[in-house]
Amino acid sequence: MNIETNWWKKSVVYQVYPRSFYDSNGDGIGDLQGIISKLDYLVELGVDVIWLSPIYDSPNDDNGYDIRDYQSIMDEFGSMADFDELLEAAKERNLQIIMDLVVNHTSDEHAWFVESKSSVDNPKRDFYIWAQGKNGQPPNNWGSVFGGSAWQLNDATQDYYLHLFSKKQPDLNWENDELRQSVYDMMRFWLDKGIGGFRMDVINFISKEPGLPNGAQNEGQAYGDGSPYFINGPKIHDFLQEMNQEVLSHYDVLTVGEMPGASPKEAIDYTNPENKEVNMIFTFEHMDLDSGSNGKWDLKPLNLIDLKDNLEKWQISLQDKGWNSLYWNNHDQPRIVSRFGNDGEYRVESAKMLATCLHMMQGTPYIYQGEEIGMTNVAFETIDQYKDLETLNMYHEKMEQGANHDTVMQSIYAKGRDNARTPMQWSSEKNGGFTTGTPWIEVNPRYSEINVANDLQSEQSVFAHYQQLIKLRKQLDVITIGDFKILFKDHAQLFAYERRAEKESLLVLCNFSKDEILLKEDVVKNYICNSKLISHNYPSVDLLDKIELRPYEALVFYSSASE
Ligand code: NOJ
Repeated sequence: MNIETNWWKKSVVYQVYPRSFYDSNGDGIGDLQGIISKLDYLVELGVDVIWLSPIYDSPNDDNGYDIRDYQSIMDEFGSMADFDELLEAAKERNLQIIMDLVVNHTSDEHAWFVESKSSVDNPKRDFYIWAQGKNGQPPNNWGSVFGGSAWQLNDATQDYYLHLFSKKQPDLNWENDELRQSVYDMMRFWLDKGIGGFRMDVINFISKEPGLPNGAQNEGQAYGDGSPYFINGPKIHDFLQEMNQEVLSHYDVLTVGEMPGASPKEAIDYTNPENKEVNMIFTFEHMDLDSGSNGKWDLKPLNLIDLKDNLEKWQISLQDKGWNSLYWNNHDQPRIVSRFGNDGEYRVESAKMLATCLHMMQGTPYIYQGEEIGMTNVAFETIDQYKDLETLNMYHEKMEQGANHDTVMQSIYAKGRDNARTPMQWSSEKNGGFTTGTPWIEVNPRYSEINVANDLQSEQSVFAHYQQLIKLRKQLDVITIGDFKILFKDHAQLFAYERRAEKESLLVLCNFSKDEILLKEDVVKNYICNSKLISHNYPSVDLLDKIELRPYEALVFYSSASE
């Protein structure tokens, strides 16, 4: 494996959700100057890449994932001059900036769509996906990810456009050569400025099955499931290879494709360097393990054995064949410490344990803002305090169907995207130090206890632990190159694995529960006696000849043939 030429294999990425990161001008909305002022904080953490969620001009139906102009900056965030300043300031600190590439869809206010919908013979007509209705009904039975039909009638032309997300996010037609070339031009515009790569939004949705067939529809369901006809569609590899050849291959950049519904086998096709597509993908499989058969809002407790099986499968399948991304959190997912950890008594220990478990695996780790201080989910009292359109659409749909208010709120508390989007908690000052104005979404009330200023003061903080894990990754090649072996596969509370390279190995032990775990003596002898403890999440560890893991305890042992 060439870790020298593939710089992103040793990198750690930090995701910034600009709206909620830091507000420099008191309007209640985070902005680019706010990010600039916090770059030194990110340097202190030790990350080397920053992924910015969309900062482009947008009407904000979906907080910037509905782009009106790919080549200008959202007013609320600043100007192109601010962006250039950010890029320069990042470069001075050896930080790369990667941008969100949202090209499955645009905003319905994008100039292309405004033209496309104006008449059937407009030159931009074919940039989007249009179809005739049938007997006054949409062209097929697909439902949108954000609720309702995936089709919207256009008055001017009396036909429908496809929108897999909100009706303000019409899907682009990747079959159109001119559209693809326009996307490539736009990508070059950003790359030529010197950005370090792209995170590609739902990029495995861009190729649709010709004919757009109806999806399977169960009785009682309002819509069919179109996903088999747009996830990993027939031309996806052609499109990605073309994008790579035309654009990406001319730059030394990091690319990560967000790919719901991609299996490890498909991930190999996407990330195997020989195929020249993307460096890595975001899988959703481990994020779906606490959902029932009715989707994300259908809550189901996590079974640790399922999580272990899943992550083991990804680690082993992609070893030497592709590359993994490693993540617990992003702007769409609830906070991991509330989800797979314990955000009460063991918040600090479990946040550190989860970090350890993930960061010692093979792949490129992603940290989502606030994860590094153990930020938790929020439970707002009323639905009006929520801002995310997915959450609001679901709530209103369920209420219309007569669902129980409290039950729906419980799902929102557990899975709603606003859990990740409350403002970054910088200090115990008003609004967590995020803004001097009124924040666009309320701050998590736990800010006086959980904030950056507190964490920076303590060597035992979650922040300090992340800092240390990042340092270890830079120091020990085994973390990047070692193979992966799961241990105690059937243990319901212990996540243990080994990483082995030619001369070095690691043993990672993570207790995912409140219970103590007694490790058997032979384990201690085989793995622990001859190695060095390099990471732990309690202030001190007493290594006797047999050890007990305390609640949410995480230990990492290192051994090297040369020591
Ligand atoms: C995935 C993004 O992560 C999410 O935030 C967004 O709503 C959808 N794609 C649509 O762009």
